[in-house]
Amino acid sequence: MINDSPSPENKVISLEGKKIKKIKYDALNNPEQFWSECAKNLVWFKQWDKVLEWNPPFAKWFQDGKINAAYNCIDKHLKTELKNKAAIIWEGENGESITLTYNQIFYKVNQLANALKKIGIKKGDRVTIYLPMIPELPISMLACARIGAIHSVVFSGFSSQSIADRANDSKSRIIITADGGFRRGKVIPLKNIVDEAIEKIPSIEKVIVVKRTNREITMGEKDLWFDDFIEKESIYCESEWMESSDPLYILYTSGTTGKPKGVIHGTGGYLTHLYSSAKWVFNFTPTDIFFCTADIGWVTGHSYIVYAPLMHGVTEIMYEGAPDFPDQGRYWKIIEKYGATILYTTPTALRAYMRYGDNIPNSYNLSSLRLLGTVGEPINPEVWLWYFNIIGKQNCPIIDTWWQTETGGIMISMCSGIENIKMKPGSGTFSLPGIEVEIVDQNGEKLENGKKGYLTIKKPWPGMLISLWNDDDRYKKTYWEKIPNSYSAGDFAFIDKDNYIWILGRSDDILKVAGHRLGTIEIESAYISHKAVGEAAVTSKHDEIKGESIIAFLVLKSGIVSSEQLNKEMKEHIRNTIGPIAIAEKIYFVNKLPKTRSGKIMRRLLRSIVNKETIGDITTLEDEASIEEIIYEMNELNKYL
Ligand code: WT7
Repeated sequence: MINDSPSPENKVISLEGKKIKKIKYDALNNPEQFWSECAKNLVWFKQWDKVLEWNPPFAKWFQDGKINAAYNCIDKHLKTELKNKAAIIWEGENGESITLTYNQIFYKVNQLANALKKIGIKKGDRVTIYLPMIPELPISMLACARIGAIHSVVFSGFSSQSIADRANDSKSRIIITADGGFRRGKVIPLKNIVDEAIEKIPSIEKVIVVKRTNREITMGEKDLWFDDFIEKESIYCESEWMESSDPLYILYTSGTTGKPKGVIHGTGGYLTHLYSSAKWVFNFTPTDIFFCTADIGWVTGHSYIVYAPLMHGVTEIMYEGAPDFPDQGRYWKIIEKYGATILYTTPTALRAYMRYGDNIPNSYNLSSLRLLGTVGEPINPEVWLWYFNIIGKQNCPIIDTWWQTETGGIMISMCSGIENIKMKPGSGTFSLPGIEVEIVDQNGEKLENGKKGYLTIKKPWPGMLISLWNDDDRYKKTYWEKIPNSYSAGDFAFIDKDNYIWILGRSDDILKVAGHRLGTIEIESAYISHKAVGEAAVTSKHDEIKGESIIAFLVLKSGIVSSEQLNKEMKEHIRNTIGPIAIAEKIYFVNKLPKTRSGKIMRRLLRSIVNKETIGDITTLEDEASIEEIIYEMNELNKYL
């Protein structure tokens, strides 16, 4: 099937007169010259002196260049015909809609920036943002960027404990939140969650609250209403001249230890990567209506809802709610209503829509679409074909974009605007210009085509993370020491005979549940913090919709007996320590966990058991255990399943 895949004509548009082969060739031969040409698409207050200062593994892109992200997203359009163009068409879950032009966004961003300055927020200070998908979210991020404050957005599905952990790690001075947010018709009490968190965050001076739901909330001493806070402020605030490698934001993401990592992105390099990748991959044009369905709480939203589309002056749709609310055609209805030309969504959403049946999308007019994208997890070929046939009516190329919170922007994807290649469902195709991908074994030896190995990136690229917040050492160890002299992505992949790249999933203890990234050890730590739990092991099971679902094995402390009540309590406990996305599909209460001789939990054995894989699949996985031990452990555990 894969070889018979459809290959629609993808009109090749030349980029600055060059074709993709030439672009990739230039990038390979002289990367610094290449990226420097790319950076010239942005507005700089002062040109850089040096393109790349590379002290492995620390990169400084466009050294001594001065730039501001908010200026590049808004101000630069104000002297053009884009000034009064719709920047964001926002749709609330309940159907209400607001359109904000570039000029209107400018107004609000400046007012908020001035208000923040007035309470003493300055360049380098950290601001935690815990907002639902409402226009105040990008506005708050841009206001921070304008004055050089570093935003740290926490996904609004996370718990008060998660907010506290992140805000304490970054020592945030303020939190911007809302009285509540809508999700499937219900109100999520965001302000109450923040109130709980605040008690544990000594550094917080003020809480700015957006009114979204009209729910009754108590306003405490530190609390200020967002509208009152900005109301009297003037509409102009000078943009801070940021050094190119000054942090733009911190975004916490799950790693292979208990504590989430604060990924830091810089300014000039990050924006250059975003501008260029968006140009090559989406080929934004002035008539585009871009619909990215991600939540801004994750990196996709940071890069491809906030920074890249606004830099390009695109009109984009921002949707507040769930894909299946109030019915199973919500995305299609939004596309029809606003005439979206590009849809960028996740395999999980597509798998769910595919299951609801073709009649639903077929009853909407989706003819405005010209390009379809996916991101976040591997897409099954049959879902890819459904997307291509039913949603795109065979007229829209599909871009399967691979990247990570750490990479900042897209790294592997077909570049729909500049190349015409045969698509293969399930493959991201090739790396972007300037990005050198290699599949290697544990020792960093390059593998031949067809062999599965570790996905690495050979050279620094402009969007790469600057470091981890307060943890240069962990940055080095996590990304640059696992495989010698390369950035190690943590994914398995292979390259086929035609040089197409195929991503096979994570090679470490990270799960992708409905496209959300969660660390097994992070979830285990959450279980262990419950008084009844002695030991915990978390793994995942293949899931038809979500890709993976969480399965937990818990050993209770002696004297404690498992019960339905305890099962419920565990659910609540996880909801409160991480958030609903980390709740297990199933919990098994067991007497002991399978461990290797050195005492490591055999998580991969657990994964094989829950996925009903055979012994043959497992023996190579658990190096330290003998086959007898593995068979014994499997039999023991199978008693529970
Ligand atoms: C991990 C990164 C990319 C922004 C959102 C997720 C997986 C991402 C793909 C894809 C197969 C993918 C990888 C990666 N992933 N895109 N197109 N095909 N897998 O960012 O939460 O940092 O997760 O998502 O496993 O390492 P993230």
